[in-house]
Amino acid sequence: MMESLAAAGVQQLPKPELRPSEVCSAEPTPTTEATASVEKTPPEVSSAATLDILRDEIACCELCHELATTRTQTVFGVGDPQARLCFLGEAPGADEDREGEPFVGRAGQLMNRILAACNLAREDVYILNVLKCRPPENRNPTLVESQNCRHFLDRQLQLIKPEFICCLGAVAAQNLLNTTESIGRLRGRLHDYQGIHVLCTYHPAYLLRNPSAKKDAWDDMKLLMREMGTPVG
Ligand code: URA
Ligand code: URA
Repeated sequence: MMESLAAAGVQQLPKPELRPSEVCSAEPTPTTEATASVEKTPPEVSSAATLDILRDEIACCELCHELATTRTQTVFGVGDPQARLCFLGEAPGADEDREGEPFVGRAGQLMNRILAACNLAREDVYILNVLKCRPPENRNPTLVESQNCRHFLDRQLQLIKPEFICCLGAVAAQNLLNTTESIGRLRGRLHDYQGIHVLCTYHPAYLLRNPSAKKDAWDDMKLLMREMGTPVG
């Protein structure tokens, strides 16, 4: 349905926003032995024509059965759809699952302060996560979950076309760059992802637990701002 709307040149779904259960053709299928054993394969990359269409496509996703049946809602992303800079986190936590927006909890508050120190507001950048669903008990995403969600992340990035991505923490950095190198080794320099400059730094939740790492994180942000042509500090 989304694809035929897009083909017909319809860019916007009617407002007010539809709840996922109204957008999607079906509620998550209950697990049976038959459905649990069937591996659904994600496409290489979503063909959604706009971020709004992609948001609705994601809201209906059931590729990860456990996540689809435990989430309150999917968490798509927020900010300027034409931002030069995207911040990439790991996955929604409890606050984000409840509010439907990334980085709104305690880590998000610290992120807002880091942005402010860079003369940026949340509206100036785009904030998104590797996973669009909250993993139960905030466990790390599994390999299959990140693979399932990857076609959405890649499509989001194709539509936003950022010049820079700041990966927050090891999970985001290792996922995006497809590496097992530690965040300590990945930080402090620029990487390339499909022509996008990528800076990796510590996750704000890690900085809350390890305040001594804030100096390194601030050095990373200064490097990023310098490279963007808007130096700070
Ligand atoms: N941590 C993340 O990685 N992402 C969020 O959206 C919130 C906390
Ligand atoms: N380990 C992580 O996963 N993230 C950090 O930011 C630091 C250590």
